[in-house]
Amino acid sequence: MDSFKTLYQSSPGGWNNHIWPPFTQIATSNPPEKISTAKGALLFREGKPPLIDAISSWWVTLHGHANPYIAKAIASQAHELEQIIFADFTHPQAEKLADRLSRLTSLQRLFFSDNGSTAVEVALKIACQFWQNKGQARHQIIAFEGAYHGDTFGAMAVGERNLFNAPFEKMLFPVSRVPWPATWWDDQEVEKREQDAITMLTQLLETPTAAVILEPLVQGAGGMRMVRPEFLKRVECIVKDSKALLIADEVMTGFGRCRDIFACKSAKISPDLISLSKGLTGGFLPMGVTMASEDIFESFIGNDPNLTFWHGHSFTANPLGCAAANASLDLLEKDKTSYKDFENRHLPYLKELKKNLKVSKIRVTGTIAAFDINTDGEKGYLNHAGKGLKEYALEHGVFIRPLGNVVYLLPPLCISDTQLEKCYFTIKKGLESLY
Ligand SMILES: Cc1ncc(COP(=O)(O)O)c(C=O)c1O
Repeated sequence: MDSFKTLYQSSPGGWNNHIWPPFTQIATSNPPEKISTAKGALLFREGKPPLIDAISSWWVTLHGHANPYIAKAIASQAHELEQIIFADFTHPQAEKLADRLSRLTSLQRLFFSDNGSTAVEVALKIACQFWQNKGQARHQIIAFEGAYHGDTFGAMAVGERNLFNAPFEKMLFPVSRVPWPATWWDDQEVEKREQDAITMLTQLLETPTAAVILEPLVQGAGGMRMVRPEFLKRVECIVKDSKALLIADEVMTGFGRCRDIFACKSAKISPDLISLSKGLTGGFLPMGVTMASEDIFESFIGNDPNLTFWHGHSFTANPLGCAAANASLDLLEKDKTSYKDFENRHLPYLKELKKNLKVSKIRVTGTIAAFDINTDGEKGYLNHAGKGLKEYALEHGVFIRPLGNVVYLLPPLCISDTQLEKCYFTIKKGLESLY
């Protein structure tokens, strides 16, 4: 242990002595770089050229960093009402946001929380209590292999059991699991994999089920694993037949990331609950929301206190977050082409990458493009191929964060053609330098 201490105890430009960084093993990572300003797709570093943020800072920055329209909306809200307890009181920004999101999702009720994990926790708790309130014993939860839904206990339980949640495994509630038939360009066997998944799901649904949860169109942290809309349609159909609730975790896919404003809209499915966060505030402030159908909401109404959804957070519906979210929606409404046409911007570069022998499983959905680096090493997150490419890209002005050997781009909508070209050029050169 002491030998590690010398590694991380603060030296100029090294680790901070008081910060415990997220998702980081200090013994095997480089200290973080300081960023004091960012604008559009660029991160400005101290004493070095800027970096293109090709992954929207953990998939949150939607319109670009320091977008002036959103910054102004937050600033003027801060002068009016910065925070208000959201029980006993409401406020105009929250009501406006709820109206807009219920129109956009076709789900009438909005429940506020703080981030993606809590938006998922709330969806799971609502789904379980819905059946309790109705007096029906439905306890099974079904999720998909490879899923990631966040780091709180309920969210971990429905996520793939792996390195990240292994220490807590015994405390996580049981979940039934269905294969996720991820696909890519020139995939010849997708239909068989989809059928196998549907068969498994159908069998599981013979047991009374509270809810089925999925990441529509793209599983994010699991490796940017994309499925066809046709598959989601079939899932929706059998889940609805079984009366189980369908939860769409759109924490990553929402707000224009997947060809349409929501991945569910793009895939033409209508879930009963939708969890949203990340791009919700344009990536400016932490906030989560869970959208629910009116039918679900009504089952919580009555004189019996046991019917109530006893859940809430100190910062529920924070007015600054709501103002940011309303401003972000204004921008999305004003320029739909910025996300609807984004896939076409990836395509020429992906076609070029297809010729590269080090690359396989090319896939794209809207703003999200991904491929695997062919490698013999360990599969999954701990594979080192992506790490080498990340370091090369950092040296050449592009910030990517591969998931093991999966390389992906998920840029802010404002990224310029030249910046996008630079991302792909750097990846191409980085691949050449790998082995
Ligand atoms: C699909 C999905 N759900 C939930 C989460 C958790 O969100 P947060 O990190 O805001 O808690 C994430 C985060 O990456 C995600 O991608």
